[in-house]
Amino acid sequence: MTLDGKVAIVAGASRGIGEVTARALARSGASVVLAARDSTAIETVAADIRASGGRALAVPTDVGDSDSAERLVAVTLEKFGRLDAAFNNATDGPVPAPLAEIDPLDFDLGIRTNVRGTFLGMKFQIPAMLASGGGSIVNMASVAGVRGTANLAGYVAAKAGIIGLTKVAALDYADQGIRVNVLAPGPILTYHLEAAGDDVQRRAGQAAPMRRVGLPEEVAATVIWLFSDQSSYITGVTLPVDGGMAAGEKPPLAKNLTRRPAPL
Ligand SMILES: NC(=O)c1ccc[n+]([C@@H]2O[C@H](COP(=O)([O-])OP(=O)(O)OC[C@H]3O[C@@H](n4cnc5c(N)ncnc54)[C@H](O)[C@@H]3O)[C@@H](O)[C@H]2O)c1
Repeated sequence: MTLDGKVAIVAGASRGIGEVTARALARSGASVVLAARDSTAIETVAADIRASGGRALAVPTDVGDSDSAERLVAVTLEKFGRLDAAFNNATDGPVPAPLAEIDPLDFDLGIRTNVRGTFLGMKFQIPAMLASGGGSIVNMASVAGVRGTANLAGYVAAKAGIIGLTKVAALDYADQGIRVNVLAPGPILTYHLEAAGDDVQRRAGQAAPMRRVGLPEEVAATVIWLFSDQSSYITGVTLPVDGGMAAGEKPPLAKNLTRRPAPL
């Protein structure tokens, strides 16, 4: 799928899904602007993309800060002259714990990065896209924004907030050439799952009907499709990328249940 001529922002591009998506977008022909707070990490990825013949720029950004989010779009326009696509993918927040044990400041951090960060991202991306003749925004939620997940009060609240924001933005700009969708991935193999070890990874995979975790490349391919004209009539959608989790539960089937009971 080609994104030749398109300019895309990826927030949370220093590692994980954001980094892999930025690299995949560049391979698809897009000019990519990588944003995260860690300037060394995004500059390394951007330099690598450029060394492979792609177009990439690193812009150190705190997505929860209004001036920083505005500057990200301004620098993008200065460098590439237009904005067609944005992936609002940054996250931060409390470590898992029962609700009463979560520090209010950690809770605020999750809301700031996810909800405020996605709001500010879209607030400045949308006028730039309108000036460029339209665009496509993909926000990042989680299965944990669609249904409750124990010990993740801050994360679930933040991701549910992003799903709400996405629906409103999609409605507000549906007749002005801007599509806004949100991903709800299941377990994806990035730093967090890698650090948790093989056993946690195996159990995370077992929770998905496909019986495996997803790869960042599978998320990146979905973003590219949503950025492309192949998805031109799709907006306001919460799209699972979850190996079947949204369809329901698939408990392991005990072998002796696969046989019909003998007739009485
Ligand atoms: N990995 C999974 O299993 C999974 C599942 C569902 C949803 N998600 C979502 O996908 C996204 C990416 O996940 P990941 O596993 O790659 O996460 P990650 O923690 O590896 O990456 C998060 C990125 O956000 C950036 N970031 C954090 N705070 C920021 C801020 N204030 N300003 C700018 N950038 C900031 C980090 O620097 C990093 O680049 C997240 O939104 C996450 O909630 C991940």
